[in-house]
Order: sequence, then structure tokens, then C-alpha cells
Amino acid sequence: MIGRLNHVAIAVPDIAAGAAQYRDTLGATVTEPTPQPDHGVTVVFIELPNTKIELLEPLGADSPIAGFLAKNPSGGIHHVCYEVDDILAARDRLKAAGARVLGDGEPKIGAHGKPVLFLHPKDFNGTLVELEQA
Ligand code: CO
Repeated sequence: MIGRLNHVAIAVPDIAAGAAQYRDTLGATVTEPTPQPDHGVTVVFIELPNTKIELLEPLGADSPIAGFLAKNPSGGIHHVCYEVDDILAARDRLKAAGARVLGDGEPKIGAHGKPVLFLHPKDFNGTLVELEQA
């Protein structure tokens, strides 16, 4: 059911420093920081030949990644994102298998303008999983 790895997201305390490290030290192509107030994060994408890395910095008072960074002050891997051909079919299949879909269970428009869902990390070996409509 799942297809390509769309991205790995890393929560960072300082997105400018994180972007500079990937651009200058690792020699990657890095986008400009983009505030996403609806999601409570500022995002940078690092474009690799086979996937992307997404750096996330908290934005606003109740950012959904604030708690994660409080527990991991130097940052850390926050989620992995897999592409699916049909996000509603994927959701229904996962729910039938007992997986918990976060929020109200309805896809929201994610950072790439496509519908996304998140799955409870306790159901996936401690890893927050994002599904994105391919
Ligand atoms: Co993501």
C-alpha cells in the first residue's frame, strides 16, 4: 500500500542553523524557510536525489512540535512520510487494522499542498507516520 518515502522530518531548535548546516556543510540544495501558521511550524526542505528532508521549527505559542523539542532540546527525527495512491482507502484499511489516525481522521492539506494524515506513533514502533496522497 505505501509507496515512496516522501520525506523524513527533523524538528530543530534553530531552522536557520539547521538549513545552513545542510547547505554549507553537507552541500545539499535547501529551500528558503517557509512559515506555515496553520501547522504551527516553519519549514525548510532539503532536496536529495531520492527523497527530501524537512526541517521543522516551532512557530507560535502552541506549536505541535513544541513538546517534542522540550523533550529533545537539540532536535531529532520527528516523523517519516510515505506516499499512498488513495489516502482515504489507506485510512480505512489502517483503521480496520486497529491503527489510530490522529485528529478527526480527515485528511488535511500538508506542506506540499496535498492531503495528509498522521498515524499514532505507539502503533508504529514509536515513529510518527505521515501519509501523503501521491
Ligand atoms: Co511531514
